[in-house]
Amino acid sequence: LPERLVDRFGRHVTYLRISVTDRCNFRCLYCMSEEMTFLPRAQVLTLEEIREIAAAFAELGVRKIRITGGEPLIRRNILWLFEELGALPGLRELVLTTNGALLAQYAEGLRRAGVRRINISLDSLDPERFRRISRTGRLADVLDGVEAARRAGFERIKLNAVILRGFNEDEIPALVRYALARDLDITFIEEMPLGEVDGHDRLGSYCSSDEVRAEIERHWRLLPTTETTGGPARYWRIDGTGCRVGFISPHSHNFCATCNRVRLTAEGRLLLCLGQEHSVDLRHVVRAHPGDRDILKRAIVAAMDIKPQGHEFDLAARPAILRHMNVTGG
Ligand code: GTP
Ligand code: 5AD
Ligand code: SF4
Repeated sequence: LPERLVDRFGRHVTYLRISVTDRCNFRCLYCMSEEMTFLPRAQVLTLEEIREIAAAFAELGVRKIRITGGEPLIRRNILWLFEELGALPGLRELVLTTNGALLAQYAEGLRRAGVRRINISLDSLDPERFRRISRTGRLADVLDGVEAARRAGFERIKLNAVILRGFNEDEIPALVRYALARDLDITFIEEMPLGEVDGHDRLGSYCSSDEVRAEIERHWRLLPTTETTGGPARYWRIDGTGCRVGFISPHSHNFCATCNRVRLTAEGRLLLCLGQEHSVDLRHVVRAHPGDRDILKRAIVAAMDIKPQGHEFDLAARPAILRHMNVTGG
C-alpha cells in the first residue's frame, strides 16, 4: 500500500474534510431549503466509524482534517471525536468549520483536544439581516461564540462570509473592520450552486470576489501574499495589520488544478470533488469489514482514480448537484 494519495492528474491528497452531521441549528438560505429532511440516524456514520476512516487516511498521508457539517457542534459527544483525532499520529492539523452558535460552550474543550485553528461563518453584523440569511440563527450567539474562541486561545480564527447582493454586500467594510479589531482573518466566499434552495435567487445575488476586493481596497491597502492555509483561499495582507483577507472564488478564479482535498459525507460517501458526484461508499466498507484497515485503505487508494479534474458550476442553470452543502460540509 502506498504512503501517499495521488490522483490521475498528479495532485496529492493531503486534506480530508469530514461532515459529521447533515443537521444544523441554522437554515442559511444559500445552503438549505427552509423545509429540509435529514438523514435517518442509521445512515449516518458513528463516531467510531469516522475515527477508523480518519485513521486510515492519516496512514495514507493525510495531514490535515477539517470537521464540518451541517453544524458539527450539535453532534452528541463530538468532543470525543476531536480528542481521538487529535491523537492520530501523522496528523498535523485538526481544524473545524462552525457557525459559531455553540462555541461559547465548546471552545475550551476544542482547544484542549488540540484544535489550533477554527473557521467561523459570519455573514452579517446586523441582527435582523443575520436572521434573514440564517433563518433560524441568532447573531448574538455567534458573536458570543467568537469571543469565547478568542478567550480559549486558538492560534488563528478565521471568519467566513458569503457575500450576497441584496443581502449583505454593503457590509463588506464592516465585516473587515470587525475582523481587524479582533485580530482575525476573514475570507469572502462566492456562493456555489449545491442543492435546490427554494426562494433564493443564486444568480441574482452573485457577487464576484473581484467586486468584493475592489470594495475593500477603497478602505484598505491589500498586499498580495503567497501564503496559504492549505485550502482554496487566495490571501492578501491588510497593510499595517497582522490580518489577512482571503477570497474563495470557484466561479471567477477556479482553483481545481491545485486541489489537495477529498470529503467524507455524513453518510460515509467519500466524495472526490465538491462539484461532482464521483464517490465511493466507505460506510459499506467499514460496516462489511469492521476493523480491517487494509481493506479500507485499499478502497481509499482506489478512489483516487476517479477524482475528477474539477467542478462545472453554473449559477445560471438549475443545480447539477442535488445534494445540499450541509451533507457535504462545503
Ligand atoms: P482553511 O484554508 O484551512 O482555512 O479552510 P477552508 O477554506 O478550506 O475551509 P472552510 O470550511 O472554511 O471553507 C470555506 C469555503 O471554501 C466553503 O464555502 C467551502 O465550501 C469552500 N471550499 C473548500 N474546499 C473547496 C473546494 O475544493 N472546492 C470548492 N468549490 N469550494 C471549496
Ligand atoms: N456556497 C458557498 N459557501 C457556502 N457555505 C454553505 N453553503 C454555501 C454555498 N452554497 C459556506 C458556509 C460556511 C462554509 C463551510 O461554507 O457559509 O462558511
Ligand atoms: Fe448550517 Fe452552515 Fe448550512 Fe448555515 S451554511 S445552514 S450554518 S450548515
